Amino acid sequence: MSKQVFNPNPEFAKNANIGSMDEYNALMDKAKENYEGFWGDYAKEKLDWIKPFTNVLDESNAPFVKWFDGGKLNVSTQCIDRHLNTRKNKAAIIFEGDRGDIQTITYLDLYKKVNRFANLLKEDFGVKKGDRVVIYMPMIPEVAYAMLACARIGAIHSIVFGGFSSEALKDRIEDAQAKVVITADGAFRKEKPYMLKPVVDTAIGKGSPVKKVLVVERNNEDVTWVAGRDYSYNELIKNKSSECEAEVMDAEDPLFLLYTSGSTGKPKGVQHNSAGYILWAQMTMEWVFDVKENDTYWCTADVGWITGHTYIVYGPLAMGATTVMFEGVITYPDAGRPWAMVENHRINQFYTAPTAIRVLHKMGEDAPRKYDLSSLKVLGTVGEPIDPPAWKWYYEEVGNSQCAIVDTYWQTETGGHIVSPLPGATPIKPACATLPLPGIIAEILDPVTGELAEVGETGYMCITKPWPAQIRAVWGDEQRYIKSYFGDVKKDGKAVYFTGDGARYDEDGYITITGRTDDVINVSGHRMGTAEVEAAIKKHPNVAEVAVVGRPHELKGEGIFAYVVLKSDQGVADEVQEFTIINQIIKKEIGNIATCDDIVFISGLPKTRSGKIMRRILRAIAKGEAITQDISTLEDPSVVATIEKMVNS
Ligand code: WTA
Repeated sequence: MSKQVFNPNPEFAKNANIGSMDEYNALMDKAKENYEGFWGDYAKEKLDWIKPFTNVLDESNAPFVKWFDGGKLNVSTQCIDRHLNTRKNKAAIIFEGDRGDIQTITYLDLYKKVNRFANLLKEDFGVKKGDRVVIYMPMIPEVAYAMLACARIGAIHSIVFGGFSSEALKDRIEDAQAKVVITADGAFRKEKPYMLKPVVDTAIGKGSPVKKVLVVERNNEDVTWVAGRDYSYNELIKNKSSECEAEVMDAEDPLFLLYTSGSTGKPKGVQHNSAGYILWAQMTMEWVFDVKENDTYWCTADVGWITGHTYIVYGPLAMGATTVMFEGVITYPDAGRPWAMVENHRINQFYTAPTAIRVLHKMGEDAPRKYDLSSLKVLGTVGEPIDPPAWKWYYEEVGNSQCAIVDTYWQTETGGHIVSPLPGATPIKPACATLPLPGIIAEILDPVTGELAEVGETGYMCITKPWPAQIRAVWGDEQRYIKSYFGDVKKDGKAVYFTGDGARYDEDGYITITGRTDDVINVSGHRMGTAEVEAAIKKHPNVAEVAVVGRPHELKGEGIFAYVVLKSDQGVADEVQEFTIINQIIKKEIGNIATCDDIVFISGLPKTRSGKIMRRILRAIAKGEAITQDISTLEDPSVVATIEKMVNS
């Protein structure tokens, strides 16, 4: 199967924005010959500048870089105002609620809503340029208004995924020193209300930097109101003006922070700035999804992750597209829900994660056949390597063997797609991210020599030239930015950006991503740092030591497997009970997404004589693989056989 190649549909290719490999190669050549010319031309063509930039790329302080220096613009006007002449009555957002309620928000509606929201933040909460605003919201249109309102007044938003616990929310609020939180009472899931506001209440304790909380009333359940701190959006918004002048922003002014897990320590605040980010968000919408003027596009991600930022809100709106936003659960009331939505909204591009594809496949293999999916043109996937069976089902059953599958490889730090097929140009192979996008110099390097990896050899996925949408900083920690991304690989003696992923070339130069090379676990497409999960488990008073690894999981991609050493005098009274307690602690400290699928209680961890835990051994045992590496350097080699016995018993 892996040798199969599927050429783009010729009818589709005729009108595609990039319609052949010749066009792709020409763009790539142009970028390689004149990198700054390539990007400078696109920045002039695609963005509306209040003041033009004077310099395309400034690398003088690398790895800190500046793009489009001297330029002034505002991201909210890129996403809204500039469409009003031609697309005033076009749907910007089509919202479908959990219970099937639908709202269509035109570009003119969006303009008014965002301006009112921006005025509210300014007038009632005193939010100013550069202030951080944490957004902890469900998937409702108000989350997009909140993001764009921040952009309009120059405030830096930091969205925290609604599945994170109050502890996780608190950490992020404190790290960003946010003075405002925007939340909702809650929302609906599987036709039942669920709550968010109580989580915010717990997160904002004494000493919190948060002074004001804005609450969107979505499910109208009872919530506690703290006088002088909590305000109803629905009330305050009523008498706000629908005109709010956009703040003039520098190209390099921060647009948002998004916290993500790394291999060590606490989550880091990935900082994206204005011009470079919005440019690439728009260009990849046009190239990778090939969205046309009358198309309707749907990305199923949650807005709390980077995919939701770039490909539900910023990218589609920057290009003037119609973006669908969905509050509910895609398998509810049954596995036909997404296909019913494709039929009802006549969706042309559908973008989701491999984990969702696997679940939909398993729960409703034939479900796509019951709906009219003929509107679909491009199917996308993101978040983790997609396995060939899931790819095949997606291609054949959902796409009726007519649609290109764009396996988009990228990360929070890259801002937008990096390696992906172009639907009208790239011959695709199952479960393969294919080629770098035009303008992106992504290369698989040998970690030791820094040379290009040989065909078939797994190397490190690197990006060897700065690109406009790249991470600009780790919030508040310059050294961590350098260490996390520019510490591992050198090419020609120069530190290059390393993604943390392994990858290999095939004989056609196509790139297959093999997964993380560090201690990051990819659970249902969500990044979890082992250090974070371990820190949570260590809060259990009975736990002496813990090591967490990933192991393949049929639906989630990877599940979390924990090795726990309990304090000797306590023993393991009841493993089932301890399992439950540990997962409860994780839910409290991080959230449901980080709970363990397996926990084994062992008497000691495999460590080197210098005390380093040998995770590779633990990973191999969790996967049921034979241990091939030398264990004689361990402090106590016999511990390996003991652990194997306990795991397999
Ligand atoms: C993984 C999500 C294989 C990868 C946009 C990366 C993928 C991490 C793919 C980023 C793909 C994402 N094929 N692996 N198409 N897309 N990944 O920051 O390990 O939540 O480093 O961004 O997801 O996850 P993040």
